[in-house]
Amino acid sequence: MPHPDGAAQRDADALVAWYRANRRDLPWRRTRDPYAILLSELMLQQTRVDTVVPYYGRFLAEWPTVGALAAAPEEDVLRAWAGLGYYRRARNLHAAARAVVAAGGFPRTVDGLLSLPGVGPYTAAAVASIAFDLPAAAVDGNVQRVISRRHGLTADPARGDGLRVVTRRALDLHDAAADASSVTQGLMELGATVCVPRAPRCDACPWGAVCVAHRDGTTAELPRLAPKIPPTAVSAVVGLLAGPDGVLVARRSGSGLLGGLWEPILGEREQGEAPEPALVRVFAERVGVDVVVGERVGEVRHRFTHRAWTGSVHRAHAVGDVIPHPGPGYDAVRFAHPGARDLAWSTLARKLLGYASIVAEPLAADGP
Ligand code: ADE
Repeated sequence: MPHPDGAAQRDADALVAWYRANRRDLPWRRTRDPYAILLSELMLQQTRVDTVVPYYGRFLAEWPTVGALAAAPEEDVLRAWAGLGYYRRARNLHAAARAVVAAGGFPRTVDGLLSLPGVGPYTAAAVASIAFDLPAAAVDGNVQRVISRRHGLTADPARGDGLRVVTRRALDLHDAAADASSVTQGLMELGATVCVPRAPRCDACPWGAVCVAHRDGTTAELPRLAPKIPPTAVSAVVGLLAGPDGVLVARRSGSGLLGGLWEPILGEREQGEAPEPALVRVFAERVGVDVVVGERVGEVRHRFTHRAWTGSVHRAHAVGDVIPHPGPGYDAVRFAHPGARDLAWSTLARKLLGYASIVAEPLAADGP
């Protein structure tokens, strides 16, 4: 183990002491169960702490052990995740639980953790350090910001050499401190509560006296991240086709972003295509149903990771008998009531079904 220099030792001591005195009492901080830690870390990727807390509690109440989760049908797991978005995390968690059970227990090394589905360098290091107290550097956006400022690092800390330097500095802290869990969570906590992106509270920081960015007045400029790629705009159409048993819905096939989740019938518009013909085409291609397009009931916007999605929502009326069958992108199709709790809906589907609920009565009355 490399011998940490005096500065790393002082930084580690100050960080751990600060964390122990100031940490928020969050539910995943009352356990060392690697399954619960993995669950919390996957939920906390891309989702705020306040949002995660109730989901985390409900999830563990339903599946208290990795074995219980491994035995659950995937659809139930997706349903419990519904609303958190980024469903790939839920599918990966479920697959990881099955891999852990098949292996007879959790891997207890970073490399072993990395072999689990959906577990990348950040998550492996977070579980290794928080659950097993291994000196592994879990570098997320918070940690990149805290360490960039502390050392005045001007390279983009999210990639390449910049990321390698940040990781090295985090490992120096681990080498200096016996309590790996407190180093990892202390860095996260400092970034979440003190060393925040705008208007950091440097007077409350355990590193206030040694921080390069604070000394130089450059906290507003650091970290220096490369500009993000703007999202692609997507124009889509959505059709609400009512029958006696609710609205026609379909399940996305595959393991993509929304695979396994149910939604009303929808599709992207082609270049220059008006909403009405687009909707007729989407119903024919995707579920084999001929429709005429009724009134437009609204517009829904949704933000995916790399896409700004806008859907024009219309009522649709079937021409002739409705004998739907799944076409490209779907693997099941049926009627369902908008509030049905036995189906896993995506966040987008829930927004769209808000309209279905509003128009449910007239929809049902003038159905085919
Ligand atoms: N964000 C990611 N991991 C976290 C954790 N363990 N506690 C608080 N926020 C986090």
